[in-house]
Amino acid sequence: MAKTLVAYFSRCGEQYGVGDITKGNTSIIADIIASKTSADIFEIKVLNDNYPNRYTPLIQFAKQEKQANARPEIVGTVQNFDEYDTVFIGYPNWWGDMPMPVYTFKESYDFSNKKVYTFCTHEGSGGVHKEDFAIYGHTAQNDKIESEKKVDEWLHKLGVL
Ligand SMILES: Cc1cc2nc3c(=O)[nH]c(=O)nc-3n(C[C@H](O)[C@H](O)[C@H](O)COP(=O)(O)O)c2cc1C
Repeated sequence: MAKTLVAYFSRCGEQYGVGDITKGNTSIIADIIASKTSADIFEIKVLNDNYPNRYTPLIQFAKQEKQANARPEIVGTVQNFDEYDTVFIGYPNWWGDMPMPVYTFKESYDFSNKKVYTFCTHEGSGGVHKEDFAIYGHTAQNDKIESEKKVDEWLHKLGVL
């Protein structure tokens, strides 16, 4: 049996264009992918989570973390990582890049012989990098039907559905 993992990083709190949210935009897309592909899910969480809850300080914090090329330690590990043949990695676009904890995650495992697909949520500059799939964060947050449709199209294109 093929096994699929969806690993993602996402924030709640104040977020651009959607106000105060209790479930992160990327986490909504991660759930859709996981439910459609019957995947296990792993949230990439930072051990010493000092990310501000407000958008403006978060922007500054993330900028410094990127400038420092930091590798924040993440909570826990994926059990039996070897058993997964497909791994989806999701994150919000932060400063035109992946948040640094996603680098920590990617550098912590051996992805050889696995199919790896990346997805991101963003507010205007998605798809300019190397993601396989990009969607507006506010669409993820506010338009479930459109999000499901876009994810479905993508998964069919990949041939995983
Ligand atoms: C620190 C930070 C930096 C961001 N930088 C960008 C950016 O460069 N381009 C963009 O389109 N959106 C940017 N955004 C918006 C997020 O990508 C977008 O709101 C995303 O959907 C948030 O996902 P989340 O709720 O899963 O954390 C940024 C947001 C934050 C908090």
